[in-house]
Amino acid sequence: MPKPHASRKLYAVMGNPVRHSKSPAIHRSFAEQCGIDLEYRAIEVKAGGFAAAVQTFRASGGQGLNITVPFKLEAYALADRRSARAQQSGAVNTLRFESDGAIYGDNTDGVGLVRDLVVNCATPLIGRHLLVLGAGGAARGIVGPILEEGVTRLLVANRTVSKAKALIAMFAGHAEIDACGFDALAGGRFDVVINATAASLQGEALPLPPDIFAANALAYDLMYGEAPTPFLQWARGHGAARISDGLGMLVEQAAESFFIWHGRRPQTHTVLAALRGDSKQ
Ligand code: ATR
Repeated sequence: MPKPHASRKLYAVMGNPVRHSKSPAIHRSFAEQCGIDLEYRAIEVKAGGFAAAVQTFRASGGQGLNITVPFKLEAYALADRRSARAQQSGAVNTLRFESDGAIYGDNTDGVGLVRDLVVNCATPLIGRHLLVLGAGGAARGIVGPILEEGVTRLLVANRTVSKAKALIAMFAGHAEIDACGFDALAGGRFDVVINATAASLQGEALPLPPDIFAANALAYDLMYGEAPTPFLQWARGHGAARISDGLGMLVEQAAESFFIWHGRRPQTHTVLAALRGDSKQ
């Protein structure tokens, strides 16, 4: 692996696939804004090769990593020290190599989502009724930060109900959280509905009852792409006043990682606007 220029800091995102990742462009943009000289690469890692790839990257001068699918659990296991939110989510998307040789792991996905909802989508969560669809790793990463916003109710609905129940059991001290299957959603009304299932990846719609959206509700998909996901298309046709994909979350989680590495908080709205412009081209 080539070494970076002496004064230049080296970072990267590791995942598979990672070729189309927007993280390099986002971090270069933040660095330019803050006057930091850095190189940010995208490194595709084969199954079984994660720990070795991290070691090689560190040996070549790397100072930190973003970790994406499917290595967030391995990154959690590799970290010597973990933030409280990483421990809560059981997954790590940000690694920082410490001067004492330790690896620090954090998870910025949940805080990135909350910031996108509250700031970019102008949807404060305090006092709101929220519905999270899905109970896998993606859902687990966002529940804690959502509860911290003071929601009145958070329902986690999943195809496999037992997995939703197991997820909410991790937040036993919170009376406002509950779990159910998709059928049991009939008659409920929610201010924010977040799709954290992998259904959009497969291009599939979810078997949801109609009328789940309260007045002025926001439908949010953690996924993003050129066109609205099947969930967002369905939401638009079933009473959601507003829809958003997860591009803003991607930029906000990157900003939080940037802060962990550089101690600086970059401005995000111009970067997000540029990406939205790009994705329309
Ligand atoms: P991730 O880490 O991306 O969350 P995961 O842990 O495999 O991935 O979880 C995938 C989630 O998407 C689960 O909640 C899964 O539901 P099940 O627990 O019932 O498997 C959900 N999911 C995937 N495909 C789905 C589909 N076609 N319809 C509904 N839910 C789906």
